[in-house]
Amino acid sequence: MGNISDRKFEHIQLATAAQTGVGELNQFFDYEPLFSAHPDSVDLSLTFLGKKMQAPLWVSSMTGGTGPAKIINQNLALVTKEFGLGMALGSCRPLLDGSKDFSDFDLRPIIGDDLPFWANLGIAQLEELIDEGKLDSVKEMLSRLQADGLIIHLNPLQEWYQPEGDRYKRSPLETIETILASEIPVIVKEVGQGMGPRSLKKLLEMPLKGLELASFGGTNFSKLEKLREKELDLSKPIDLMFVGHSALEMVNQINLLKTELGSNILCENIIISGGIQDSLYGHWLSERCQLTNVVGRAKGYLDHASSIDDLRKFVTGQIETLKMAKSFLKAK
Ligand SMILES: Cc1cc2nc3c(=O)[nH]c(=O)nc-3n(C[C@H](O)[C@H](O)[C@H](O)COP(=O)(O)O)c2cc1C
Repeated sequence: MGNISDRKFEHIQLATAAQTGVGELNQFFDYEPLFSAHPDSVDLSLTFLGKKMQAPLWVSSMTGGTGPAKIINQNLALVTKEFGLGMALGSCRPLLDGSKDFSDFDLRPIIGDDLPFWANLGIAQLEELIDEGKLDSVKEMLSRLQADGLIIHLNPLQEWYQPEGDRYKRSPLETIETILASEIPVIVKEVGQGMGPRSLKKLLEMPLKGLELASFGGTNFSKLEKLREKELDLSKPIDLMFVGHSALEMVNQINLLKTELGSNILCENIIISGGIQDSLYGHWLSERCQLTNVVGRAKGYLDHASSIDDLRKFVTGQIETLKMAKSFLKAK
């Protein structure tokens, strides 16, 4: 509204609703309003996983092979391309059984060659493929998708809670080592519980292309599988769904490991994700993390992914907030 008198009137009307309490104060940044003009073109670009991204934002693995997945994935791919982000597919398991649903996952033509685009499979499927001597089918799938590599998700708790879940016959570590030996580029992630210091240390010492935290605090697949039960299963109490590690805890641990391991760290690309409820908190964690990183979200994008217009606005909001933060905030 351009009219000054109208604006002044609205100020009077809204003053009560505009009260804040000190408890709402963001504790993560110093606010320094003195030193910058309003940002116009702030360079947020970085090289991540060997590719140049225009902003440090990552669309974490979600869906494929079900009704609305195609439009969701296509919208996610469109904003990935438009804003220069990185994107991972949800589990590509449906593609292992043939070409059914391929179009849900066929996003490289939208994203183009210059941005990171990764496929995804679970440890349990990989274990099975190794046992059946079918690891080549993973390479074929990656080549068909023109994906940069494979994100492997570790989800023993989800599998345990899932009524039709798989059971690991070996440790995920052994499976990952076999995959690495086959020269498939690999990122490892959890699915919403994060992982502790011993797992982090081992993974950072391995020749992975990256590590995605998928920490506790956001979407929780143990809880989600429990919610899928048709009848309450007393043999699977809820206790285990609350174990895990927050993104902050994991970032702090990675920083400690950086000091401890020095040049023995072979995996240097970190996707900070899991429970990143807003872009400022993600930015704060990103500034804190001492390894090259981007900030990933799943549910945050999913909430807007059915409409390309909403999704564009959402991503624009993420990026504009980052630009303002770079201009006026300093991470504490
Ligand atoms: C609908 C949905 C489907 C998901 N499917 C997968 C999947 O197939 N593979 C995977 O590794 N993670 C999957 N995830 C987990 C996310 O990649 C992410 O690690 C987790 O949701 C935590 O991020 P968030 O708190 O931002 O949602 C899925 C998440 C959502 C919301």
